[in-house]
Amino acid sequence: MNITQRYEKVKQLLAEYNQSHLLTFWSKLNEKQKLSLLSQIEQIDFDQLKEKINTYIKNYATAELPEKISAAPAYPAIPKTREQKEKYTKAKQLGAELISAGKVAPFIVAGGQGTRLGFDGPKGDFAISPVKNKTLFRLFAETIKAAGQKYGFQPVWYVMTSPLNHSQTTEIFERDNYYGLDKSSVFVFQQGTEVNFSPDGKILLAAKYELATSPDGHGGSLKALYKSGAVEDMKNRGIEYISYFQVDNPLTNIFDPLFIGLHALDKAQMSSKALTKTGPFERVGNFCLANGKVTIIEYSDLPDELAEKKTKEGLLVFSLGSIAIHMITRTFVEQLNNEGFALPYHRANKKISYIDLQTGKKIEPTKPNGIKLETFVFDALPLTDKSIILETIRSEEFAPVKNAIGTDSPQVTKKMMVARAAAWLTQAGIKIPQKPDNSPDCKIEIAPSFAICPQDVQKKKDKVEPVNPGDMVCLT
Ligand code: UTP
Repeated sequence: MNITQRYEKVKQLLAEYNQSHLLTFWSKLNEKQKLSLLSQIEQIDFDQLKEKINTYIKNYATAELPEKISAAPAYPAIPKTREQKEKYTKAKQLGAELISAGKVAPFIVAGGQGTRLGFDGPKGDFAISPVKNKTLFRLFAETIKAAGQKYGFQPVWYVMTSPLNHSQTTEIFERDNYYGLDKSSVFVFQQGTEVNFSPDGKILLAAKYELATSPDGHGGSLKALYKSGAVEDMKNRGIEYISYFQVDNPLTNIFDPLFIGLHALDKAQMSSKALTKTGPFERVGNFCLANGKVTIIEYSDLPDELAEKKTKEGLLVFSLGSIAIHMITRTFVEQLNNEGFALPYHRANKKISYIDLQTGKKIEPTKPNGIKLETFVFDALPLTDKSIILETIRSEEFAPVKNAIGTDSPQVTKKMMVARAAAWLTQAGIKIPQKPDNSPDCKIEIAPSFAICPQDVQKKKDKVEPVNPGDMVCLT
């Protein structure tokens, strides 16, 4: 088909679906721009578009609560019964064996836009470590390298970007020489995008020849892993388990033998780490059992009376929050994609810059003016036959960098990184100077090359010099 024929076809389709405005500037475009715009429009699945607009833009009702919800059972952070202790010992051993055998691959989702942090560039390039100012990507890469040395098998790191930050991310990896990892053991791939809408269901234009788009949410990873060939690559390399984590949490225990082992022992397909919420309304997803399936209900969707509901002992019924750390069995991703699956969309009202159709000028809105649709990875949990939850300890594993200031800000994360390092050293019997409020009176950083878990510190404690008040120490 030549360009005129393609144009006529697209014009007709757009008229049928009420999106003719996308061709407003057609006569002012050059040939290259015309071709680009046509191919963007041709990629839209128009049947799906209609459904999306009706269900999620025009008639959006907040997610209906499942009929029967109860608290989800979870493995405690510290085993309680003799039986549990035995199972944890067995799981840790199995987990370590699976890592050593190269059956576990780290997988980072780094396709987000990080708008709340307001950092100019992919969030993974944000410097976070308290003494050496290492970036998030560097910390994860060094952890992966250290795990390779510890377990005798260098894992392949799967990195998901989005079309909006892919080239920048790959440039950063190149610039930083893959942080000492072998380039061939880093598999970078892109997630999909979704078009952005005005509240009345019109697709926004980001430029006269470009649709406004945004990444399709971390749920897009389950399709992207498959479409990109990452899952095929895993299969070829004998990888069975995917250790899923986010770019923003430098405390992630990427290779946790206990979590991996429990997931494998219980033959789960997708499992999660959880922590006890700070209160009924902490802004994390709530673990529930909905119609018998492990399900995460967003804080905004859980009615107050359920959020505040207490047990006889006075504890919150829905006490477990999600920290977006999952173990996913590779064959589960294959199965989902082979059978065809769709995760529900979640809509977010955002500030989206757009081209004014009357003036052709770019508008940078100061308040939310449009709608982005995203899918969430945890919506795959109810699609599993088996899913387990392991509770963990906040100070050990959760300090996300989300906002520029206040809660979940770099300042808080750095403080938590120092506190965890101090706790690991204290557990190994090393004296750490303290301030009157018991926080460390020094800045300590433990590089992954020194330790990736408290047991590693225990083994190297003789190498640690005494720490004095006000010291800045990095153990490498
Ligand atoms: P967030 O929910 O924090 O979103 O992502 P975000 O886009 O990074 O940040 P804000 O909301 O604009 O401030 C949680 C994790 O999921 C990844 C992010 O990169 C982060 O690791 N993510 C999010 C994706 O990989 N793709 C997406 O489309 C969305």
